[in-house]
Amino acid sequence: MNILVVGGAGYIGSHCVRQVLAAGHSVVVLDNLSYGHREAVPAGVTLVQADMADTEKVRRALREHKIDCVMHFAALINVGESVHQPERYRDNNVIRTFALLDAMQAEGVKRFVFSSTCAIFGLPEKMPMTEDLPKKPINPYGENKLEVENKLKELAAAGKIAFAAFRYFNAAGASLDGAIGEDHSPETHLIPLAIAAALGRRPPLKVFGKDYPTPDGTCLRDYIHVDDLSAAHIAVFSRLDKPGTALFYNLGVGKPYSVDEVIHSIERLTGRHVPREYVDRREGDPPALYADASKARAELGWKPKYETLDSIIATALRWHTTHPRGFATK
Ligand SMILES: NC(=O)c1ccc[n+]([C@@H]2O[C@H](COP(=O)([O-])OP(=O)(O)OC[C@H]3O[C@@H](n4cnc5c(N)ncnc54)[C@H](O)[C@@H]3O)[C@@H](O)[C@H]2O)c1
Repeated sequence: MNILVVGGAGYIGSHCVRQVLAAGHSVVVLDNLSYGHREAVPAGVTLVQADMADTEKVRRALREHKIDCVMHFAALINVGESVHQPERYRDNNVIRTFALLDAMQAEGVKRFVFSSTCAIFGLPEKMPMTEDLPKKPINPYGENKLEVENKLKELAAAGKIAFAAFRYFNAAGASLDGAIGEDHSPETHLIPLAIAAALGRRPPLKVFGKDYPTPDGTCLRDYIHVDDLSAAHIAVFSRLDKPGTALFYNLGVGKPYSVDEVIHSIERLTGRHVPREYVDRREGDPPALYADASKARAELGWKPKYETLDSIIATALRWHTTHPRGFATK
C-alpha cells in the first residue's frame, strides 16, 4: 500500500514511518514541521512540507503518490497549553483534521488511522480502562480528540471511510538502534524530563503529588513503547478494506507504574540520582490511568514487545545519551 503519514516528522509518526517501510509499504510524509524534525524522516522518503489544512498540497500528495491510506499523527499535544489556548487547539486538532478528511474524500481515499488518546475518557471510575467507558474529557486536548472520533464515526456510518482510532496511553522509548527518539520542545513528558535531570541537563524534576491513594503516593500511568504503538498501526491495515468500518482500540501495556518507579528505573539504569522535588498535585491528574488492551490483542493479534518499564526506558536512555541536544535542527 501507499501510505501518507501526516505528522510523520514527529515523535510517534517517525517511528511508525520506519515500521511501515519495514513491512514493505511505501510512505510519503506530510508535516508542517511546526514541531517535527526533518532528520526524523528517513533518507529516501518524500517529505511534503505542508500544513494538513493546505488542501491543494494535500490533494496533490494524495493524487500523485496514489495514496491508499492516511495515518494521522499531526496535533498539538500539550494538555496544559490546550487549557490556555483552546481556540488554537481546536483549530489545529479539529478544524484542520476535518480539512484533511475533506481532501481525502475529494481524492477518493477511504482508509484512515487516527492517533487518539486516553484523555478522551477524562477521570474514569474503572481500571483497567476498556473501550466502552464513558467519554468525558476534562481538557480541550481530550475534547478535540473526541470531536474527531465522533466525526469519523459519522463518516463511516455514511460509508465514506473505514477507520481505526487508537487511544494511546503514555508513549515512551525510542527506536532500538538509537537513531530517532523523543524530542519535544517544550518537553512535558516524565521520562525524558527525568533522564535529563539525571544527566544534569535540566533542573530537578518536579513530581506532582505524593499523597495519591497509590502504593507509593505518586500517580500510576501506563507506558507503552512507540514501536509497539506503531506495530498496532501495521496490524490494522488489512481491516480497513470496507468503507463503513469503525474500529476503536485502547493501546497500553496494561501494567501501571508510578512516577517514583519511573525515577527508580532511571536511577538503576544510569547509576545516577534523579534530582527531584515533590510538589502539590496538578489539577486534573487522576491517581491512576491504565489500559485494558485485550481488544487489540484479540482482534489484531497485537502484543507489546516491551512489557517492562526498564526495557522501555533503556531505549529512551540510549537516544538521550547519544543525542544530548535531540535532533540537530530546532
Ligand atoms: N506522545 C504521547 O504520549 C501521546 C499520547 C496520546 C496521544 N498522542 C497523539 O499522538 C500523535 C503524535 O504525538 P507525538 O508525541 O508524536 O507529537 P509530535 O508533536 O512529536 O508530532 C506531531 C507532528 O505533527 C506535526 N503537525 C502538527 N500540526 C500540524 C498541521 N496542522 N499540519 C501538518 N503537520 C502538523 C508537527 O510538526 C509534528 O511533527 C498526536 O496526535 C498526539 O495527540 C500522543
